[in-house]
Amino acid sequence: MNLYLDVDSVLLGKDDPASPAQCLARHAKEFLEFALAHFNCYWLTTHVKDGNARGLLSYLRRYVPDDLMPLLRKISPTHWGTLKTEALQGDFYWLDDSPLQVELNWLRGQNLHDRWLHVNVRENPDDLWRVMGILQAAIEKKRCKPQAKITIRPFAPQDQSAARSLILAGLGDHFGIADPTQTPDLDDIMSKRVKAGHVVVIAEDGQEMVGTGTLEIETAEIGRLVRMSVSSKHRRKGIGSALVKHLLDVAKGKAMSKVVIVTNNDWADAIGLYLRCGFKEDGRNDKDIFLSKQL
Ligand SMILES: CC(C)(COP(=O)(O)OP(=O)(O)OC[C@H]1O[C@@H](n2cnc3c(N)ncnc32)[C@H](O)[C@@H]1OP(=O)(O)O)[C@@H](O)C(=O)NCCC(=O)NCCS
Repeated sequence: MNLYLDVDSVLLGKDDPASPAQCLARHAKEFLEFALAHFNCYWLTTHVKDGNARGLLSYLRRYVPDDLMPLLRKISPTHWGTLKTEALQGDFYWLDDSPLQVELNWLRGQNLHDRWLHVNVRENPDDLWRVMGILQAAIEKKRCKPQAKITIRPFAPQDQSAARSLILAGLGDHFGIADPTQTPDLDDIMSKRVKAGHVVVIAEDGQEMVGTGTLEIETAEIGRLVRMSVSSKHRRKGIGSALVKHLLDVAKGKAMSKVVIVTNNDWADAIGLYLRCGFKEDGRNDKDIFLSKQL
């Protein structure tokens, strides 16, 4: 996991809130040792925007004892222009005292608002200690979360019945019951989808089919994800994300420029999945939400 660190009010605070004198935050040493042991740490501060932390390190030398400087040198610089959110990558946490509203909106739009941890050691001198507890819990949660070991392969004719049932079951989870007359494309996936040039894949855990998804070739430039479904007993193990990533790689391999999706605007699982996979909302109406990702 990546950990992005602001400096002022996060690593640097004040001994006396009434005095302008700045000092290293309480618990900074324990915090840095913990952070560097468990995370890939990055600076995310206006002191470092150009991929070079030299200026920041000489600024910090005024406040930091010599024995801590080697720890600070292990933190990687970032590149960003206007918004700090431009630098955020992968599975991350971000410690900052005051992100901009536009940065918070971006996090919310990506379903990542819980990844910003509010730290302000000027107002709360023990904040680094508190946040270590939150990060420790996040590490434990990730360690305990079951991750499926799956393989993803192309659809084959013998998958017809199981794939159709899996997709109808997913639709049934939203609608109460799925009406097969509304999904004629599922009656013969090989001839209606695969032979028509679309890419249908199956996720398997051993012999069991646990997920499926389709990349429709809308034009040479644009792909569309449809019929994504993961078996209910295997959800929240990363299978949906793995299917999306696989199909995005297929689209990139075909030199497509964009993948689009339309789904129901109240399907939190589907919307959460696509936002987590980097799709952005293009708009919505009273029934649907439209999302896309540039490749
Ligand atoms: C949508 C679906 C395919 C997701 O599959 P999945 O294997 O559970 O997805 P992942 O485990 O990769 O989840 C990735 C992220 O998606 C989001 N997500 C998944 N399920 C969610 C839910 N029920 N509520 C909110 N967010 C959810 C989370 O951000 C999750 O990350 P996290 O587990 O670290 O919090 C699955 O729920 C499903 O088959 N639903 C029924 C059919 C359907 O809606 N298909 C999509 C039609 S467009």
